[in-house]
Amino acid sequence: MSRVIAGAGVDTKNGDGLPPTLEWIVDEAGDGVLRLIDQRLLPGELTFLECRTVAAVADAIRELAVRGAPAIGAAAAYGVAIGARDDGGLAGAVAAAVTLRATRPTAVNLAWALDRTLDAVRAAAASASADAATVALGVAHRIAEDDVAANRAMGAHGVALIPHRARILTHCNAGHLATVGYGTAIGVIRAAWEAGREPSVWVDETRPVLQGARLTAWELQRLGIAATLVADVMAGSLMASGHVDLVIVGADRIAANGDVANKIGTYALAVLARHHDIPFYVAAPTSTIDPATATGADIVVEERDPDEVTRFGGTAIAPPGMPALNRAFDVTPAALVSAIVTEHGIVRPPF
Ligand code: MRU
Repeated sequence: MSRVIAGAGVDTKNGDGLPPTLEWIVDEAGDGVLRLIDQRLLPGELTFLECRTVAAVADAIRELAVRGAPAIGAAAAYGVAIGARDDGGLAGAVAAAVTLRATRPTAVNLAWALDRTLDAVRAAAASASADAATVALGVAHRIAEDDVAANRAMGAHGVALIPHRARILTHCNAGHLATVGYGTAIGVIRAAWEAGREPSVWVDETRPVLQGARLTAWELQRLGIAATLVADVMAGSLMASGHVDLVIVGADRIAANGDVANKIGTYALAVLARHHDIPFYVAAPTSTIDPATATGADIVVEERDPDEVTRFGGTAIAPPGMPALNRAFDVTPAALVSAIVTEHGIVRPPF
């Protein structure tokens, strides 16, 4: 993986002041490269990683340089294209998919994107119609374009859920950085802001990896949307004092019965929201819905390195040898979800 340091003022094709989360570029030697924001370094440094190999893409996903369910899916599809190009067509694509599938277990968008890409590569190989790398790259581009379109559609539908001057609590980062562009939960907030509804956002810091403090805060600041950072443990107090009108989050996998896997801490927010009679919304593209998973109990929850809990910014915050449990996600039962927003519209219970 190589690194590119970029200036602060990088613009996007969308003209929203946010650099592309990920994009396929052609380097000076004429080689295709997956270039992505290294989200581990935000907000301190805006640096891009250039992934030229399947291993580099897999490392970027595993180590959270690129994260968020839709972004992981798109990055993985480009990884399959790299594998097909560098390692013998169909066989290389299949090997790449095996490596990439093993990186993170919970976000179904990863498996969905890999399967979609491999299906197309296999079909092309069976009919000898096109070479595997070209086909895989075409699918990856399509996944990336479809993601932005789905997020904008989700925003357009979701606006109906956001009252004027709503005070919205969100968790983790389900924004531009978690997607190829625009965001899911943050996309709905953006759409409300673009519609002149003047939302303001309580940003949960999202321990232990701080996707809220580092990423959502950075993103909302750049967009100019009013936002205030709070410690995760403040949500109950904010709700009890009447300062939260609704909660909206993204999702990593939605089971067939509507149970929602999302960043650890989401379930606690849903319980709090129900207690305080506050709507709890989930925004996710249909690629996050997994009909093959019957209920939340069947979702594999990733456990990450305990160091993410026992250390903070490189410094130990627990005594040496202290055991720590680090579940990256939890499951919110469908019964606590007020509505799910997808690119096709708003769905209310029963899901
Ligand atoms: O561990 P992460 O940062 O990949 O977790 C991301 C989340 O939990 C997001 O809320 C989810 O992927 C939805 S992103 C649109």
